[in-house]
Amino acid sequence: MNIIELQDIRKVYKRGEEELHILKSISLNVSEGDFVAIIGPSGSGKSTLMNTIGLLDVPTSGSYKLDGVATEQLSDNALAELRNQKIGFIFQQFNLLPRLTAMENVELPMIYSGIPKKERRERAQAMLTMLGMGQRGHHKPSELSGGQQQRVAIARALAISPSLILADEPTGALDSRTGEEVLELILQLNQQGNTIVLITHDHHIADNAKRVVALRDGSIIDDYRNDGAARPQQQEVSV
Ligand SMILES: Nc1ncnc2c1ncn2[C@@H]1O[C@H](COP(=O)(O)OP(=O)(O)OP(=O)(O)O)[C@@H](O)[C@H]1O
Ligand SMILES: [Mg+2]
Repeated sequence: MNIIELQDIRKVYKRGEEELHILKSISLNVSEGDFVAIIGPSGSGKSTLMNTIGLLDVPTSGSYKLDGVATEQLSDNALAELRNQKIGFIFQQFNLLPRLTAMENVELPMIYSGIPKKERRERAQAMLTMLGMGQRGHHKPSELSGGQQQRVAIARALAISPSLILADEPTGALDSRTGEEVLELILQLNQQGNTIVLITHDHHIADNAKRVVALRDGSIIDDYRNDGAARPQQQEVSV
């Protein structure tokens, strides 16, 4: 079963007379339980592709099925509901709400998905503890370091047990030891059946993914599995 089915996705921005083709006919299927790393140079369209997969941005054309649901005709509300149900986001910029405590930030997606308060609190505390933030639940984001804010954001993404986890440079703002812990956590989540799609510039993370998809100039130029299967002959990809 494919959790992601992208067919001929294009994203075009107009700047005056000029058309900027940011995604050029992207077709990509991701099966349930996979762990896909998206690599490619800066400006190649990685975040644009991830925002499309995450229903945060609509493509100019093409079709996208998320977990069997065709998304083209859905209203903004229906898209938001689908997103809240199915997707946990981890951004490079943590996107925490500044007025809420760490605990309340982690609880927020669980409020949207209707989890009762007591269970919400317990799960939020468990997630924060797992990420080494168990003592900091009452802190506001501004009272936390960048690395700590990132861990709260990761706890928030994981708290709803999403069927798809999308991460844009999840370890980019973390020191290498914390980054390694987060990678271990992501690998563990994948072993538990969660589908992971992440953007990375880090070869070590890409090497740990099951599948690597390389973008350049808005096109997929390489797509291979890390499971020891023979890799098709391709040009060298810079990340
Ligand atoms: N709203 C917009 N209007 C015009 N161009 C845009 C817009 N958003 C993104 N772009 C352009 O689309 C291209 C791809 O951007 P994107 O953020 O997807 O790249 P990326 O691969 O994630 O890069 P990075 O590794 O630096 O994060 C860039 O050239 C960017 O300038
Ligand atoms: Mg990006």
